[in-house]
Amino acid sequence: MQYTLPKGVFDVLPEGKDWNRSDHWQYVEEIMRQTAHTYGFKEIRTPIFEKSELFIRAVGEVTDVVTKEMYTFLDKADRSLSLRPEGTAAVMRSFIENRLETINTFHKYFYIGPMFRYERPQAGRYRQFHHFGAEAIGNGSPEQDVEIIDMLWELYRRLGLQDLTILINSVGDASSRLAYKTALSKYLHVHFQELSPESQVRFSKNILRILDSKNDQDQKILEHAPSLRDYLNEECQTHFNRVLELLTKLKLPYIVNSKLVRGLDYYNKTVFEITANALGAQNAIVGGGRYDGLIADLGGPSLPSVGFATGIERVLQTMIHQKAAFPPAPHPFLFIISLGKESLDYCLTLLYQLRHLQIPSEMDFGSKKIQQSLQVANHLGATFCLIIGETELSLQKGNLKNMTSRENIEIPLSELTSYIMNLFFLSQKE
Ligand code: HAM
Repeated sequence: MQYTLPKGVFDVLPEGKDWNRSDHWQYVEEIMRQTAHTYGFKEIRTPIFEKSELFIRAVGEVTDVVTKEMYTFLDKADRSLSLRPEGTAAVMRSFIENRLETINTFHKYFYIGPMFRYERPQAGRYRQFHHFGAEAIGNGSPEQDVEIIDMLWELYRRLGLQDLTILINSVGDASSRLAYKTALSKYLHVHFQELSPESQVRFSKNILRILDSKNDQDQKILEHAPSLRDYLNEECQTHFNRVLELLTKLKLPYIVNSKLVRGLDYYNKTVFEITANALGAQNAIVGGGRYDGLIADLGGPSLPSVGFATGIERVLQTMIHQKAAFPPAPHPFLFIISLGKESLDYCLTLLYQLRHLQIPSEMDFGSKKIQQSLQVANHLGATFCLIIGETELSLQKGNLKNMTSRENIEIPLSELTSYIMNLFFLSQKE
């Protein structure tokens, strides 16, 4: 019997060919951490599962995420737990539970980790996927919204992404939305029979979600629907205008998309997505927005907040597609080949010594022919190979081979360590 992966998940391997190569993941995660630190966000880590009621309350009882996509199970004491489908709810739970508002009223957190949604898997859509998310708690200003978007833009610039589009909208506050929902419901009521079955369900459950229906007929009907923007009250309108003004000042290219409503219920005012034109149907590399009422709704203090989460798989896929540069994979600087038993202890001592000097070094302990060992060294991408056998020991000279130029040089064993150290430090400066 051969065991295989469940549907919708994947392995990340050092030998991965493409976006699922572990050194590519490490690089992208490192740039994410560095960018977060540049903008003053600090790391928060929450558990992978939480009580189900947290997500039901925060994400929304009638959202697809809660009704169809959560991995929910009972533990041995019959408690309902769920694998986290997103990070915002958990960060807010942690913020409230740890009473972090008593330390300060302004907090900026980021997180990197796996999320779980039972969705139909396809390219760019998985059942376990990874978020780099950030949440700024305690500041309700449009400047804070723009800081979040600018941080993303800077992250994608550092990663070498191109051809991205910022889609932005305001979903207003509760009172603007109520007025809009009434107008939209009046308009769609007339077209109810022509709507797709999914939108007919959304009509009574969550009418705003009809706006981001993928059905062509629904979209045709929506062409003449009232626009959410016309129903924003003055405060929401002023907030949104200032966001757009700042984006223009920062030369961040955006498109106002009045149909962008997002699939999670906690948003108010600014919502946004960034799409990568290189990706297919699943082209949103990030989603985010403001959620001023969520913390109070979960029983915490009333603090406005804004955040985002970017899908790491989709970021990596875009980078691969656009041929963005990655640093070279980790590889040994020196590969030591010991020919015969006599030289083994000498080579091992050298290997330990170099590793303790933090010089990446490798040795194949199985006895092999010199050509086979050179092949292994080549495969691992070693910069140099050192060959030492009985002859080299008796002559007290090692044979150092440059694996790129294929040049060989003889080095007295007494000078070997300092010679390799020099070579290594010079290579680090290049
Ligand atoms: P979201 O739009 O549900 O937002 O997810 C954010 C991003 O995660 C998406 O734009 C996409 O890149 C990626 N993503 C979502 N589902 C999948 C999947 N099944 N497979 C691969 N990638 C996926 C949130 O989760 C909010 N918590 C964002 C947020 C933070 N809003 C405020 N703060």
